[in-house]
Amino acid sequence: MDDEIDKAKKHFEEILVEQLDRVRKLKEEDDWVDYANLKPLIIGIIGGDGIGPEISKHARTIFEFLLQEHIKDGKVVLKEIEGLTIENRARVMKAIPSEVLEEIKQCHVILKAPTTTPRKGDKWPNIESANVSMRRELDLFANVRPVKIPEQGIDWIFFRENTEGAYVLGSKGINVTDDLSIDFKVTTSQGAERIIRLAFEYAKNNGINKVTVVTKANVVKTTDGKFLAIAEKVAKDYPGVEWDDWYIDIMTAKLIDPVRQSQFKVLVAPNLYGDIITDEAAQIQGGVGTAGSANIGKRYAMFEAIHGSAPRMVEEGRAEYADPSSMIKAASLLLNHVGFQGLSKRLDKALDICTTYEKKLKLTGRSDGVTGEEFSRYLMETLQDPNLEEKWKSFQ
Ligand code: IPM
Ligand code: MG
Repeated sequence: MDDEIDKAKKHFEEILVEQLDRVRKLKEEDDWVDYANLKPLIIGIIGGDGIGPEISKHARTIFEFLLQEHIKDGKVVLKEIEGLTIENRARVMKAIPSEVLEEIKQCHVILKAPTTTPRKGDKWPNIESANVSMRRELDLFANVRPVKIPEQGIDWIFFRENTEGAYVLGSKGINVTDDLSIDFKVTTSQGAERIIRLAFEYAKNNGINKVTVVTKANVVKTTDGKFLAIAEKVAKDYPGVEWDDWYIDIMTAKLIDPVRQSQFKVLVAPNLYGDIITDEAAQIQGGVGTAGSANIGKRYAMFEAIHGSAPRMVEEGRAEYADPSSMIKAASLLLNHVGFQGLSKRLDKALDICTTYEKKLKLTGRSDGVTGEEFSRYLMETLQDPNLEEKWKSFQ
């Protein structure tokens, strides 16, 4: 037994060294990149696998249309990044093959289609999720996920911590013996503070008077306890913004409580709780296929659909029926982030018309609905309509 304990101790020691080094780097963090001064701004598009290549193709067409002037005058470059497929990743046994990561790092912002996350027992080696790896490698600490249902007064924006919590050492747990498995969960003061501050800043800058902090600090006392304590400290810098805190279990219930729902506005949570409630929120909005997600760091940012790569759809020959709207929503979040707020709003309005108001075409994921291609053509026609603004207003 001493042997096993020694091995575990050594493993834990390595983790401590690595995490303390991470804290050191967090303390010397750079400033935010200024997109306005980049020439060119390089937008990477990653096709991923499963339904990824299919839906990202449509998002690219939308970029080409909306950004045509900027592409022509050299302000924006679209760069296709290949090789982030499960086959390739399994071949080199890496979450992100090195040459793909190099290419990604040459971009400023990335639009990423879903990539398969293997799990124990399926046909792929159990390598780490490409998402989790990318969030860590590019230090994309904020996962920002908006959810809106205007008819129900729901206008939520989730700030999910994206680089710590249960995820950062998710592949580095230990089986101390055959019977004892231990995982690690990490919160750093710096990591908690930067996400909580971003949430409060967002509230302040958008005239929103409410931030809700989600933890399980009553039970997970050390890491969640720190998260909550940091929230208390940060909140003092924002006297104009009210805040409250909820535990994750009751939060999942209150998100579907018609009396409470509309009272939540900006929500901030550690990684795993954020993962769970954003799927719930997306489902309330109409399904995980309807939500986009922004992964934001100070130097890089990556935008993606919140759903997976749907290998089953591909196996059953239904990839062409996959709904590209969450990818296109992610594209809109990207445009907004890099300073093209006008284009982003226009795209949002066209999406509103096509997916919520007018709904001339319906995607079902199957052959009784339209294909992603047909839907994208409809969206493009809506975008090109000179009366888009009036049309959108007529539905309000
Ligand atoms: C998400 C996804 C990922 C996560 C998976 C694919 C690893 O569920 O982006 O929410 O858990 O973060
Ligand atoms: Mg998730």
